[in-house]
Amino acid sequence: MGAYTKRREISQAVARLKKAGKSVGFVPTMGTLHNGHASLINYALDHCDHVVVSIYVNPTQFNNAADLKNYPRDLDADLSFLKKYNEKITVFAPDSFEVYGEKVVSKDFDFGGLENEMEGKFRPGHFEGVGTVLKHLFEIVKPDKAFFGEKDFQQLQIVRKLVEIESIPVEIIGCPINRHQDGLAESSRNKRLTKEQRAIAPFIYKIISKVKEDFNSKDITTINHWVKEEFSNHKNMELEYFEIADTATLKTISEKKPDARYRAFIAVFLGDVRLIDNIALN
Ligand code: PAJ
Repeated sequence: MGAYTKRREISQAVARLKKAGKSVGFVPTMGTLHNGHASLINYALDHCDHVVVSIYVNPTQFNNAADLKNYPRDLDADLSFLKKYNEKITVFAPDSFEVYGEKVVSKDFDFGGLENEMEGKFRPGHFEGVGTVLKHLFEIVKPDKAFFGEKDFQQLQIVRKLVEIESIPVEIIGCPINRHQDGLAESSRNKRLTKEQRAIAPFIYKIISKVKEDFNSKDITTINHWVKEEFSNHKNMELEYFEIADTATLKTISEKKPDARYRAFIAVFLGDVRLIDNIALN
């Protein structure tokens, strides 16, 4: 497994692969790899001859300094986790200078309003940071296809918009959410949960699964009210937002329309650990 830290090295490695007629997939990550990331890599390997996995904790997408500081990092563990893929993958683990040069700053993007909903409301500047780092990474790696998890569904929609508005020649592919057996979505942030918090965290999936079950028979106001009640009765979790939104516009709805597709989106605090999840409703 090749592992590079310099942009020139990874660019050259990808150029060699392409020259040899291989298709190149890309799975960008912030490390602390888990089975959710592995499911993306496997999906990418099903669709491409070779896969580049980047590991880089991107400062510009953190709106909160403590969150950036506390974000778990363990490059050695990540490299061991990836060993099983042997020569089928190449790792790119750059520092900020390799990605950004001297100035680690976000660009301005107009994602057509997608950036102002949900995560955008509660994490100002977050998607500008995500857009900026991915624009740089796409330019460095130049993959044929890039793979993103529906776990971060709003991010996936924004990346689709990014490649459209910036005319970046890459195909974006969304991959299903990987969950623990008890329903909790795999996440690097789960590592920060205490044993007690980890034990109650599957409550989030339980609630959105019930929302899915009730979606056809109950109106949106009733569902929203029920979710708020469930969390206000829960002493160890704080609901930041729950929204039922149109999957294309990500705008909250108050009434269902016949031909639209909807998802429920949720963000919850367990202590200072913030977890997000979502589920397709129809
Ligand atoms: P990170 O949180 O490390 O996630 C990397 C990729 O793995 C994202 O596409 C994310 O949606 C996907 N992923 C995470 N947990 C998953 C799960 N349980 N099931 C399926 N996919 C999952 O998302 C980022 O990093 C960053 O914002 C990044 C895109 C790398 C830009 O910095």
